[in-house]
Amino acid sequence: MNAEAKLINVAQRNCDFHRGFLALQEERNGWANNVRGTLPKDLTGTLFRNGPGAMNAGSEAYGHWFDGPGMISAATFIDGKAHFKNRYVRTPKYLQDHEEGRVSHRGFGTQIKGGWRKNILRPLSNPANTGVSWHGDKLCAFYEGGQPYRLNPETLETLGPEYYGSTLNPRTTISAHGKIHPRTGNQINFGINLTGLGWRGIKCALDVHDIPADGHGVRSCRIPLDRFPFLHDFGLTENYAIFVVSSINFQLGGPLLGTTTLSENLNYNEQQAMRGIVVDLRTMSVTREFELPPGIVVHFANSFETNDELITDFFQTKSTEGFAWLGDVFDVQTVAGAELHRLRIDLKTGHTRLEAFDHAPTGEFPAWNTNLTGLSSEHCFYVGHAPGREHGFFNSFVTLNTRTGACTHTDVGENRYTSEALFTPKARPKTQDDGYLLAVVYDASTHRSEIQIRDAQNPEEEIAAVLLDHHIPFGFHGHFTGDTFLQ
Ligand SMILES: [Fe+2]
Repeated sequence: MNAEAKLINVAQRNCDFHRGFLALQEERNGWANNVRGTLPKDLTGTLFRNGPGAMNAGSEAYGHWFDGPGMISAATFIDGKAHFKNRYVRTPKYLQDHEEGRVSHRGFGTQIKGGWRKNILRPLSNPANTGVSWHGDKLCAFYEGGQPYRLNPETLETLGPEYYGSTLNPRTTISAHGKIHPRTGNQINFGINLTGLGWRGIKCALDVHDIPADGHGVRSCRIPLDRFPFLHDFGLTENYAIFVVSSINFQLGGPLLGTTTLSENLNYNEQQAMRGIVVDLRTMSVTREFELPPGIVVHFANSFETNDELITDFFQTKSTEGFAWLGDVFDVQTVAGAELHRLRIDLKTGHTRLEAFDHAPTGEFPAWNTNLTGLSSEHCFYVGHAPGREHGFFNSFVTLNTRTGACTHTDVGENRYTSEALFTPKARPKTQDDGYLLAVVYDASTHRSEIQIRDAQNPEEEIAAVLLDHHIPFGFHGHFTGDTFLQ
C-alpha cells in the first residue's frame, strides 16, 4: 500500500488514533498562547522530544515506524508562558528523501524499491529519530544504528554528526539511551558494532563508553558477543552498567544480500536464556555475567546499589506482539505494553532474583526523577492503557512507588493518546516525586496535540495544557532541561 492509500485508509477508520502517526511537514517557531489552565511559574526549561515526523517520503511509505525521519520538537516554559518549535534533523537520508520525494535509503524495516539489486550490501540509514539529549552544552538527536546528530538548541538547525572526538566514526553506533552519571556528570552509553568476519559468521561486540561532558578523554571497553543482539537500553548505577541481551536473534544473511529487511529477520527464541552483563565503570571491565529466563527486555527504569546488591527495573515481555505492529502503524489495533520487573543482582555471589511488580499495570516508556539516576529512588512513571480504553496507542499515566507498590492510573482524556511522559522536579521539591509530569498528548477528535502538565503526586488533576494548533506525530523519547534556549 503506498503512502497516499494509507492516508485514505486512515481517514476512513473509526479508531482515529492512527492519524497521530501522520506527518507534520511544517516547521514552527513561536509562542503558544492557547493554554488550558495556568502554567506553573516555577516550571522553567525545555521539553525536547524526538520521533519520526513522517511515515512517508512523497508517495512512498516507510516500511517501519523506526524508519521515519527524526523530527525534534521543543516546548519551552518560562515565566508562565510556553514557546514551541520543531524541525527535522537534516540527515543525509532526510535531505535526499525530501528532495526526491521517495524512499532513497534502506531502513530497519524499509527496502529501496527495485529488489535485492538495489539493496545488496547497502547499509541501513540513520534517521536520527529515537532520542534527544542535552549534555555537555551539546543538543544531540540519537538513533541506535548510527552516530548522533548535533543540533543548535536555539534554532534546532542540524550542525552535523557528533563523534565524541574519535570515539565514534561513520560506521559505528551509539544507543539512544545514554544516561548521565550521578557523580561525574558523564554520559554513559553503549553501541553494538560489527567487528569482523569469523568462521562462524559475522562477529560483533558491545562497546561501552564513559563520555565526559566536554567530550574529551572518553573511556571505553569492548565486550565480544557471540551473535548480533537485541540490546536497546541498559541500567546505570553509581559504579556499574547493567545490560540484558534479550532472547532475540537477528539473522544478517538476508539483509546483507538485500533480499529482506533486518526487521523481517528478528527471531524470538523461547528456549534461549537472556544474557546479563555487568560492567564495572571504575575499571571499564566485565565484573559479572549471568543468565535469566528467556524473554525480551526493551526499556530500563532507574537502577541503584545497596551494600551487596545491584537493583534495576525494566519492562519485560515474552511476546513479539510488541514488535509486530511497528511495521505498519496505520493498521495496529492495540499498542502492546510490557510488565515492569525488578532484577536484584548479588554482587558477592552473582545470584539473581527477577520479580514482576505484580499489581502494576502493563505499559512502557519508563521515566523517573533523573536527578536520582543511578541512586536510590522509589518512583517510576510510565504510560499504559486506561481501564476501559485498552485499544489504540497509550492513553494513561501510571505512577508506581517501587518500594510500597502503590500506584495510580490516570486516563489522559477522552479521545486522547500519549507518548512518553517525563518527570521534572518542582523548583523546591519536598520529596523525590514532588514534581511535574510532562507529556505530548494527541487529541484524535481534533487531530491536534497538547502538552499536558500534571502534578506527579496527583496526576488526576491536570495543572495546565499547552494547546497547539497542529499535531505532533507520536514519538519515542525526550529530555527535559532547565535551560530555555530562546533566541
Ligand atoms: Fe527506546
